[in-house]
Amino acid sequence: MKNILITGGTGFIGSHTCISLLEDGYDITIIDSLINSSKKVLEGLRDILELTNNFDENKIHFYEGDIRNTSFLQDVFLDSKKKKKTIDCVIHFAGLKAVRESKSNPLLYWDVNVKGSINLLNIMQENDCRTILFSSSATVYGDIENLPFKESSLINPSNTYGYTKAAVENILKNIFDADSSKWRVGSLRYFNPIGSHPSGLIGENSRGKPENIFPYICQVASGIKDKLYIFGNDWPTFDGTCYRDYIHVVDLAEVHKITLKYLLERDSANLTLNVGKGKPFSVLELIKTFERVNNIKINYEFSSRRDGDIAISFADTSKIYNLLKWKPLKSLEDMCKDGWNWQKTCV
Ligand SMILES: NC(=O)c1ccc[n+]([C@@H]2O[C@H](COP(=O)([O-])OP(=O)(O)OC[C@H]3O[C@@H](n4cnc5c(N)ncnc54)[C@H](O)[C@@H]3O)[C@@H](O)[C@H]2O)c1
Repeated sequence: MKNILITGGTGFIGSHTCISLLEDGYDITIIDSLINSSKKVLEGLRDILELTNNFDENKIHFYEGDIRNTSFLQDVFLDSKKKKKTIDCVIHFAGLKAVRESKSNPLLYWDVNVKGSINLLNIMQENDCRTILFSSSATVYGDIENLPFKESSLINPSNTYGYTKAAVENILKNIFDADSSKWRVGSLRYFNPIGSHPSGLIGENSRGKPENIFPYICQVASGIKDKLYIFGNDWPTFDGTCYRDYIHVVDLAEVHKITLKYLLERDSANLTLNVGKGKPFSVLELIKTFERVNNIKINYEFSSRRDGDIAISFADTSKIYNLLKWKPLKSLEDMCKDGWNWQKTCV
């Protein structure tokens, strides 16, 4: 069975993808600096797999380190080879994702997200490993007048984080164009991943001040925060709040496995896909659904619009459906129920 290197594998989306891959019998090698996650996630992975008697400690390898450290990356590839677990392909989650922080500290974001990716690609090439699936984002899009966003829509990010994602997509395109017979590259543009594994044993690390709405709702529900501030009730939408395309993280994890399989079955590939449900919900709909399925009241107040937000964002999902015959299965209710199930264990 293939051994897949997962950078950022103890993070939110990475950890759920590890479960999806391990359940199908893949070997995984995780690299993570733990800047935004913890080693406890590895216990969560073990506990989930033990629920179905699927745990095999020889299938999970963990290396703590930074993707900007070239010799560390080289050691991981060499060590894996020595253990007769050569790394066959990479899913690249590691990176920083806070839009506001990216604006105030752009060099850090270029360093981690772009330089880190270049390091990884160099070491992959040196080790003759040329299959990579990259975590991109809907933040790369810019043409807000023409919705839904299609993969062919204008790329015009409005913040540093989005620029770094677009830059890595371009690098992947360039290396593919330079040697298309060898590389298999894919970028998945995620919309708004929320929720968690239904076991409640892994989920989003919402320590610190979350920027996204869902961890914020969870923190208000659990009493960590007093109140949720909704940025604007005067948007040109049905209820005046912003619309976003939420996707359950378990669906998102599954699509990594399916896309990777698609790449591995080809001699050469260069793929960019939107990953969302293709149906937007308003902030108020999200809150009301959370309240209803979890029987909890969320204390919220409207505040002014946040700089850089747009009224509506959602994906055209026809490309991923046509290519992979894949559609997300989980509902907004599942996202709210599972996300809260995880948050309860963190209090
Ligand atoms: N969560 C979202 O809403 C969302 C949306 C679109 C794209 N993405 C992208 O998906 C990827 C995963 O996101 P996530 O939500 O799981 O975030 P996360 O912060 O939970 O996971 C990222 C992981 O990468 C690790 N990491 C960060 N910098 C590193 C470095 N220099 N070296 C090694 N490890 C490092 C962190 O410790 C963390 O475990 C990121 O690249 C993010 O930009 C996320």
